[in-house]
Amino acid sequence: MPSIAVVGAQWGDEGKGRVIDYLAEEADVIVRYQGGDNAGHTVVFDDETFKIHTLPCGIVREGKGCVVGPGVVVWLPTALNELVLSERKGSTVWIDESAPIILPIHRALDAARELASGKDLIGTTKRGIGPVYSDFWLRRGLRMGDLSSKAKVESVLKTSGYFDELVSVMEYLKQYGSVNFLDLGFNIDPCSFEETVQWVMCQAERFVSRLCDTRMFVHDCLSDNQRVLFEGAQAELLDGYNGDRRNRTSSLCGKSGIAASFGVHNIDRVIGVAKAYLTRVGSGPFPTEQVNSLGDNLRTVGGEYGATTGRPRRCGWLDVVALQYAARMGGFTELAVTKLDVLTGQKKIPVCTRYRVEEGVIHLGRPVQPGFVKSTKTLTGELMGFVKPVYTQFSGWDEDITSVRTFEDLPREAQFYLNSIEGNLGLPISHVSVGAERDAIIKCV
Ligand code: IMP
Repeated sequence: MPSIAVVGAQWGDEGKGRVIDYLAEEADVIVRYQGGDNAGHTVVFDDETFKIHTLPCGIVREGKGCVVGPGVVVWLPTALNELVLSERKGSTVWIDESAPIILPIHRALDAARELASGKDLIGTTKRGIGPVYSDFWLRRGLRMGDLSSKAKVESVLKTSGYFDELVSVMEYLKQYGSVNFLDLGFNIDPCSFEETVQWVMCQAERFVSRLCDTRMFVHDCLSDNQRVLFEGAQAELLDGYNGDRRNRTSSLCGKSGIAASFGVHNIDRVIGVAKAYLTRVGSGPFPTEQVNSLGDNLRTVGGEYGATTGRPRRCGWLDVVALQYAARMGGFTELAVTKLDVLTGQKKIPVCTRYRVEEGVIHLGRPVQPGFVKSTKTLTGELMGFVKPVYTQFSGWDEDITSVRTFEDLPREAQFYLNSIEGNLGLPISHVSVGAERDAIIKCV
């Protein structure tokens, strides 16, 4: 180690959970640094499958230190369940006292705003992520450290009419339809101040002994040469700064989120995780999407349904242009490619290596090569919405690769496919996953 970050290189759901789980074995401390329970990291451990949403994946491993940083937004019921799991498994959890708390009204607002958006909806996970981060940047809202006192909780919710203002927005949104609160995972009236305070306080006690200044804790761990694994959620193309105008999440998903939360600016390895093809949930441009039997086949073979919401994922071919952008913005030092086995049996595997616009094939960056059109637009801004992908076709393979454990034992075509991705990105591929089993990973470097 000593410090590794694992981050999403596409639109989330790349299989970060299993890469994190694989690396967690060697780590002393595993740190979640952003997002909330919009994430769903799947870990298979001791023949059990866990879907972990808020705490780090390391909670299922005895003796590991698990940190929830100040940039993570906490939905108390989920965090509580995961705390119980960690106690059962013998790991230790520390939660930052300044991590924001997601209230029922944040979830209600998220759902009500989606309803109000009609056909322009974002397709959020309805976990209240946008509303709680908005309040964070508006310098208001509950923090984990407030849980130690009911008076503090009440006073924070009352400061500058905070809670009342949220209620008035809910009232306004009622004209667009009513939201079923039970579907959102709570059974109180989210607009009731008293019920909200009670909802918070009846869960508070279990967290109080877990609170600490995790910025200092992580700093000390790194100073002591402990092996620290930073666990990213969501992904570079959904990042609050680098994602597209509307269809993005509200946190800093990559290395920048680690620097912002912990002041850790130098990380030894930043592993971007990408599927061997591409998926997206929610709305937004997806140039290589296959709305046809090819896409349906990827969804079926790859089991492409959301770990958090169960939604069917949109499926398509690998987009190397988008991956180059993610690698650049995310400062990746290497790539992990997941679900290579899902491509087995494809006669031809198209990969998008360029984007085309009306005027010709575009070149992103400088100098513009002869014959290419220069683009002045940001990839996730306007650009992705109207480009056509230019594909390079790769030969497929038929051999079952799920029991392969070395790069050399992969079919020649699969090796060529991976080598071409490396060549296009100028980054080494460090891990390749070839099956659902825990050990179905090829370690390449
Ligand atoms: P939010 O994070 O729930 O506000 O959703 C904003 C966008 O990010 C939507 O398009 C979601 O589908 C997407 N999103 C959020 N979390 C994840 C994730 O863990 N995997 C994949 N997409 C996600």
